[in-house]
Amino acid sequence: MQSINYSEKIPNNVNLSEDRTLQRALEGWQPNFIDWWDDIGPDGSTQSDVYLRTAVSVDPQGWAQFGHVKMRDYRWGIFLNPAIEDRKIHFGDHLGENAWNEVPGEYRANLRRIIVTQGDTEPASVEQQRHLGLTAPSMYDLRNLYQINVEEGRHLWAMVYLLQKHFGRDGREEAQALLERRSGDENNPRILGAFNEATPDWLSFFMFTYFTDRDGKFQLCALSESAFDPLARTTKFMLTEEAHHMFVGESGISRILQRTCQVMNELKTDDAQKLRAAGVIDLPTLQRYLNFHFSVTIDLFGADESSNAATFYSSGLKGRYEEGKRNDDHQLRGQFYKVLEVREGRLVEKEVPMLNALNEVLRDDYIKDSIAGVGRWNKVIEKAGIPFQLTAPHKAFHRNIGALAGVKVSPDGRVVNDAEWHANVAHWLPTDQDRAFVGALMGRVVEPGKFANWIAPPAMGINRQAVDFEYIRFN
Ligand SMILES: [Fe+2]
Ligand SMILES: [Fe+2]
Repeated sequence: MQSINYSEKIPNNVNLSEDRTLQRALEGWQPNFIDWWDDIGPDGSTQSDVYLRTAVSVDPQGWAQFGHVKMRDYRWGIFLNPAIEDRKIHFGDHLGENAWNEVPGEYRANLRRIIVTQGDTEPASVEQQRHLGLTAPSMYDLRNLYQINVEEGRHLWAMVYLLQKHFGRDGREEAQALLERRSGDENNPRILGAFNEATPDWLSFFMFTYFTDRDGKFQLCALSESAFDPLARTTKFMLTEEAHHMFVGESGISRILQRTCQVMNELKTDDAQKLRAAGVIDLPTLQRYLNFHFSVTIDLFGADESSNAATFYSSGLKGRYEEGKRNDDHQLRGQFYKVLEVREGRLVEKEVPMLNALNEVLRDDYIKDSIAGVGRWNKVIEKAGIPFQLTAPHKAFHRNIGALAGVKVSPDGRVVNDAEWHANVAHWLPTDQDRAFVGALMGRVVEPGKFANWIAPPAMGINRQAVDFEYIRFN
């Protein structure tokens, strides 16, 4: 186990002080990062002491420590999982060769692009979530939001370390550009579509952390297989932090369901208007938000057929989800995979070379994982005795990337004409009225142990603290 050196300006377990040039470059970037945080980080949070976990080790048993800190004093740093001695490349054309500690010249441009694209999502989500603190449904939830925000900041550090250490001047320029793009900015937006969408309310936030942070998990898992060892080790450690983000999303939606079902039973109604009047979010509205976030997120995996995906895999830059657990030749030449296309007004499968379909392979693995959580949400509804089930929409629904972009498909997977789409879209995707209603529900509740009316308290607090623990001290 490598312990983390906290006596330096930048906490790290990579012996940063032995590489003066890199240390200077990162110490030069650090104040720009703090400026970015001050400029576009969580609104109104500067004075608060927040009960945060900070990484203090990469040992899976006890890697984190909890305590009240001001967020801008959070010890953002550089933590890599320990190197595996004699690690071999386990997929692609270089299968069986030694993993790389330096970037091979011929893969430099592609690796840089992969790292920049991943890095760009991290500050983007902080920007998307920056106003949510003003409408937190509880102190507990506010603390979780802030925890996610500081960790996304650390994930940016993780990618910036790779850029600055391994990509010379280009890397330094990319590191700076990561602080300059802004989510939703017309002139200088974030790289990926879903990271330019607003996260205007807490229902969107919980859906985002459930679905979109899970995209993060799958991308990180694929990168943790990389032949480029520093990338593999960095992303492995990021995954330990990511688990909490998805927990916040999953438990957040569960608690909303619990509260809605409770009120449905008290009022003996499933009438959306009556439930809204009682200040809870009706189940069909939750379904529409789910449809939106699911479809926007699966677009993040990219086009169903992609020669880039094939190149990234064959050259060893990015593996499949759980590459090491699969029993095939890990090269995939001459193998096929099914993708969807529309022929004569119907969705049909077609076989394409698997190497070109690796985006679709990762998307399908993601879909399996996210549907499992939808099943757990349905248990909450079932337990309340209410005959309603949430479902993930068909993967062709509401797509904007790949062969299905712009094709009109219902959530149950039928290609529909314009008229049917327009007649039903208000049942399938959140309407302006839905968003206005959810927006109007949002109001700040931050007394310890108090919760907004539309969400149930959690079963337990953070780090075995009580639910009414003072997670945040407002100064
Ligand atoms: Fe992240
Ligand atoms: Fe995350």
